[in-house]
Amino acid sequence: MRQPEESHEGPKIALVGCGNWGRHILRDLVSLGCEVAVVGDSPDSVERAREGGAATIVATIGELPEVDGAVVATPTDTHAQVVEEVAERVAGPIYCEKPLCDDPATADRLVAELGDRLFVMDKWRYHSGVLEFARIARQRELGEVRSLHMRRVTDGDNHFDVDTVWRHLPHDLTTALEILGELPPAHSAIAEHGPTRRIGLHAVLGPPWVTIEVSEAAPGHRRELRMVCERGSVILDGGWAEQIVIRRHDGSADELRDITGELPLLAELRAFVGHVEGGPPPLSPATDGALVVRRIDELGKIAL
Ligand SMILES: NC(=O)c1ccc[n+]([C@@H]2O[C@H](COP(=O)([O-])OP(=O)(O)OC[C@H]3O[C@@H](n4cnc5c(N)ncnc54)[C@H](OP(=O)(O)O)[C@@H]3O)[C@@H](O)[C@H]2O)c1
Repeated sequence: MRQPEESHEGPKIALVGCGNWGRHILRDLVSLGCEVAVVGDSPDSVERAREGGAATIVATIGELPEVDGAVVATPTDTHAQVVEEVAERVAGPIYCEKPLCDDPATADRLVAELGDRLFVMDKWRYHSGVLEFARIARQRELGEVRSLHMRRVTDGDNHFDVDTVWRHLPHDLTTALEILGELPPAHSAIAEHGPTRRIGLHAVLGPPWVTIEVSEAAPGHRRELRMVCERGSVILDGGWAEQIVIRRHDGSADELRDITGELPLLAELRAFVGHVEGGPPPLSPATDGALVVRRIDELGKIAL
């Protein structure tokens, strides 16, 4: 166990899971001034935690020191068990990476057990482009929203705890939820099947109408978001784009609108840390997480 040498201004946070993604969470928690206690067992996890500035590294949740809140960034198929174990050890709020879990009954159980202190990390709800789409929709800047279209595709997926649909669709469903203020019902879907597992899903939800394409069988990595309104469309061309395009139906030149802001992971962790310190809760309470799990399950069941 490594003990802290530096002083921290922020709260004490446990991070369970310091893998490929967890190390970015550690980086941002440290940058927010948190004293982070990492649960990591393998040499790789311990090394990432040490390099990332963890104040304490322990092998099991049971060995955690007293902390004010916890972040869970383990594989999806372990979320429920890890969250429940963390909840017994830690009294404060828990922030679990998306998706909350991969079956609706377990999601409902987590809501019933921990609904008031469990939140889901849905970083796209903090993306400055998505937030501008939401503002345009809410203020009807281009009239009523007619439809929303999303594409999130990759060339392969090297994770095997859940398939690419469970891995990526939560981002698009929570983007729709943030922009429309509701998650429309499942309407129809077509699945892409690989030799051993599902490798994609083309989903239609609505009304209000939303289409989503998620696939690991694309020629490359692509994220795209379009919103069609009465008087024009709004386009986000990639997660790292620094502008969105406003294309009005009146034939005027495209407007490019700056969307530079804090990176979404840092923004969502700032919200969580603020909540641990007594501020308002972050977006995506456990009930939203359970709704997303239910919708993914429904779309999978109706998929052709
Ligand atoms: N929001 C986003 O954009 C985004 C992006 C990527 C991933 N994620 C999410 O982040 C989570 C982790 O993904 P990842 O890519 O970082 O996975 P990963 O590289 O496989 O890392 C998983 C980590 O969890 C630990 N772990 C596994 N099972 C555990 C258990 N039962 N108890 C305690 N620790 C356990 C592992 O520790 P040991 O090695 O010590 O066993 C490892 O450090 C997933 O939920 C994923 O959906 C989100």
